[in-house]
Formats: sequence, C-alpha cells, structure tokens
Amino acid sequence: MKKIVLAYSGGLDTSCAIKWLQERGYEPIAFIADVGQREDFEAIKNRALKTGASKVHIVNLQKEFVENYIFPTIKAGAIYENKYLLATALSRPLIAKHQVLIAHKEKAPAIAHGCTGKGNDQVRFEVTARLMDPKLEIIAPVRIWEFKTREEEMDYAKTKKIPIDVTKKSPYSVDINLYGRSIECGVLEDPWIEPPEEIYKLTVNPLKAPNKPTHIELEFSQGIPVKIDGQKYSAVDLIHKLNVIGGKNSIGRVDMVENRLVGIKSREIYENPAGAIIHTAHHELECLVLDRETMHYKQPLAQKYAELTYYGLWETPLKKQLDEYFNKVQENVTGLVRLKLYKGSCTVVGRKSPYSRYKEELATYGKKDIFDQKLSEGFVRIWGMPFSN
Ligand code: ARG
Repeated sequence: MKKIVLAYSGGLDTSCAIKWLQERGYEPIAFIADVGQREDFEAIKNRALKTGASKVHIVNLQKEFVENYIFPTIKAGAIYENKYLLATALSRPLIAKHQVLIAHKEKAPAIAHGCTGKGNDQVRFEVTARLMDPKLEIIAPVRIWEFKTREEEMDYAKTKKIPIDVTKKSPYSVDINLYGRSIECGVLEDPWIEPPEEIYKLTVNPLKAPNKPTHIELEFSQGIPVKIDGQKYSAVDLIHKLNVIGGKNSIGRVDMVENRLVGIKSREIYENPAGAIIHTAHHELECLVLDRETMHYKQPLAQKYAELTYYGLWETPLKKQLDEYFNKVQENVTGLVRLKLYKGSCTVVGRKSPYSRYKEELATYGKKDIFDQKLSEGFVRIWGMPFSN
C-alpha cells in the first residue's frame, strides 16, 4: 500500500477522505497542524485513527506561523483588496511545508488535502508542496470524488461508520487559526443579506461591547509588535492577548466580496481582532517614522505582497525579495502607539518613536515656529515651472 500524508482537520471532508483514500489502495497518515485553532487534538487524533489512518502526526506550528508568516505581512502592510488580513491564506503554505516534511520522514510518495476545486486553498497547498518536492503525487479527493453534496458525504460517512463531530454541524464553512476566523456559505452566499450575529465567535456584538472605551499601548520593535501596555509577550501570546482585548470591543469584523484566484467572486466574513489592531497601529507608526517617498513607494508593493500571499505564491523569489525590502524599511519602525478601542472602532490616539520624523517646530503655527515661509515663494515658482506656458 502506498503511504499518503493527508492534511487532516477532523471535519467531514477530511474524515471522508481518509476512508476514500484507503478504499483506493492508499495507507493514509493524518497530519494535524496546530496553527492555533484551539481544538481538542486528542479527540481529532482518535477520530482519524478510528476512521482508518495508520498513524497521526500533530505538530504545533503556532510560533513559526506568527514569526515567519503573520509578522512579515504586518511589516509589509499587506491586506488583500484593502480588507482581508490573509489569516487563512497565510496558514496554507506553512501547513503544506510541514506536510511535505512529514511525507519525507514517512517515505510517503503522495500527499492529500481536503480543499475543493473552487477555492484558493488548493492552489496554496499544491504550489507550495510542488516547489518543495516536484515528485510528490498530490491528491485532492474533494475535487474528484463522486459526492455532489454535503448530504451525500454524510451518507457515505454513515455507511462507512466514520465518526463525525456533530457539534460542528453548521450551515457555514469556517476556517480558524490563531490569527483569525473566515466564515462563508449558508445565508452569507447572498451578498445582500446581513450576517446573522451567531456566525461571530471571536468578537462580541458592538451593542454588547463595553460602554467605555479601552485604551491600550502597543510597542513595536523594527516593525514587530512586542509589548502591550509595557508588558513583553511572546509572539504567540501577544496575538492571543490582542484577540481577547479586541474581541471584547468588537474589533476586526470584515464583510466583503472578494476576487478568488479561480475567477469566482465570493462573499466572506472575517474576524481578526489582533490583526486589525496591529495593522492599524503599525501603519500609524510608519506615518511617524518613514519619509514620504519610502511610504508612498511601499504602498503598491504591499498590495503586491498581499496578492502573492493570496495567490499561493508565498515560496517564490519575488515574495522573498520583497521581504528583504520590507525588513530594510522596518529598521526604524520602533516606537509606541496608543489606541482606543470602542464598540468596533479601533482608533490611534497617540504615537511616539525615537526615530520620529515629526518636527513640531516645523509644523507648528505657534511661537516655536522656525519654518522660513519666505523661502516658499521661490520653491513654489520652480515647482510649477515645468508646466507653465
Ligand atoms: N477566502 C479566504 C481565502 O481564500 C478564506 C478561505 C477559507 N474560508 C472558509 N470559510 N473555509 O483565503
């Protein structure tokens, strides 16, 4: 029997995939990536074994996820279509990488994932895996199997006695990790319908958030958040802590219609409390320390970086070159940002940095002013000169 390493979540699709692969002569090995989804991994492991996996690997990838995947997009300021912080998109190349490493360890010639043929995730898994090992066979059961609907899958699970998690029964498709939640399907497929409150799990209803604002101070060192209110946190703890604070104040909800790589527009809801706070603060700190030309030049590159991430091109030369650039830009992005969180709004109310380029004596209209306004006359004449007739 041919060994195959399956990226396993414990859900209906990947559970059916174990059995389905087995029936086609494979020996499925389940790989459970802990990217901070906070699930009962023991229960998921047992489900995999009961369904027919010959072995289960659980690997905690949280630290690597934050430091090598989330933080680079913060430094870049990468946000897809100005709204999506890329939580799901970022986890895929990381999971794929470790899936390939396990395949090598297990001497498995094949890997499998539970993505559909209509989404972005298939691209992210497969492009990453192929770049690491072009010889690996990749199977996507959901793309090729006979089941047309979820009900047919459920029937299959029932006849094959595949244990499924009934608590997970929901009309929505949800992806969750340390950095956020992505929710689609069900009534959300109608872009005119307001998302029902029940879909949100990380953020409270703004109407139920505290009636008084919460102030926090976020400290950055070279583009990376390191302290909250003066207290140092590990990368993973910092994200978690900000998710809790932000979630209580209903920060980070996004409702969007996005352009998938496969050409479909889809309506997606996101919850990203920590990401929303960090991006907002980081951008504001950049406004203080970066010179104008750098700031403006960086913007389209940030968008490019978001596209590369979204399109599954994480492990490509351009993405790595851009990392070098962004790291250079972040050298002075060190300092403190004060934020006010209140019923869904996240506002910067103060910022300071040892590398601040803000000069009060130039900006002020008060007594301290040292700006020589007379010099502006010549400057303005010459500035417009190329366009005069
Ligand atoms: N549209 C997002 C992306 O492509 C999220 C995909 C996963 N979402 C989900 N609800 N299963 O990155």
